[in-house]
Amino acid sequence: MTRHFLNLSDAGADGLAAIINDAMARKEARAGWPKGKIDADAPLDGRVLAMVFEKNSTRTRTSFDVGIRQLGGSSVILDGSSSQLGRGESIADTARVLSRMADAIMIRTNDHAKIEEMAHYASIPVINGLTDASHPCQIVADLETVIEHGKALPGLDVAWLGDGNNVLSSIIEAAGLLRFNVRCGCPEGYDPDPAFVAAARERGARIEIVRDAADAARGADVIVTDTWVSMGQDHAEAKIAAMMPYQVNEALMAHAKADALFLHCLPAHRGEEATDAVLDGPQSAIWDEAENRIHAQKSVMLWCFGLI
Ligand code: CP
Ligand code: NVA
Repeated sequence: MTRHFLNLSDAGADGLAAIINDAMARKEARAGWPKGKIDADAPLDGRVLAMVFEKNSTRTRTSFDVGIRQLGGSSVILDGSSSQLGRGESIADTARVLSRMADAIMIRTNDHAKIEEMAHYASIPVINGLTDASHPCQIVADLETVIEHGKALPGLDVAWLGDGNNVLSSIIEAAGLLRFNVRCGCPEGYDPDPAFVAAARERGARIEIVRDAADAARGADVIVTDTWVSMGQDHAEAKIAAMMPYQVNEALMAHAKADALFLHCLPAHRGEEATDAVLDGPQSAIWDEAENRIHAQKSVMLWCFGLI
């Protein structure tokens, strides 16, 4: 069975925990090494990762590219505008071709149905590098960051502020798998995807949706936010206005636990969803979170190859 990583539930609770543990162990094992040096065991020696980008990326692109090299493999990058996908070649035919030329595919696109179609026609693993629906790779890095900062996941109180978007859906999915709680402070009309909420609640996670930002943040162990306008969305003034009360600033952080962490997947829109004082403040773990994309993505690839 080909292992695809389209959502966190593809790995399940045990798989996700194993991926996070592996990421931390590999990070530790190569601490202080030059970034391009290959890991001692070179577990993906000779393997090729094809990356397909139909949306912009800095962290996902760099972390998978550096990550596959650290595992002993190599990468090829296709973007929407310069590949035949951009001229209408089908996802199915692209999947068949890449399956003959590469050993795994990482794709960032808009419609989640496209990566499901890619996985259906590919005979090699397909990894979700972000869709409009979810961003599972990001959340592996986020959870690694939380654990590295000394917080245990079961029972953790995570507060999300702002838009109920793709990143929040994957946080909620992780909460169901690893049993932590998410309080979503979202303005009316911008709630998280109800399917992810229902699935996490069925697995026993406490997922709350509140309208008051301070209520969302109160007593939280981790405060998370993201852009108010995701890629592909309109920069609508009405949405920005609705989001303003959910800005993560020092006053809002003061409602969380004194040792609460602040996370943001980046890129940040400084002065919108979060202020400089929070992004650059003592509780912010955003640079560790960004670095952990490399370690997390390596272990996602190893899981796809059945090596975890
Ligand atoms: N967080 C994240 O996925 O960043 P990029 O859009 O730069 O890949
Ligand atoms: N929600 C954002 C995340 C970017 C990494 C987006 O989809 O644009």
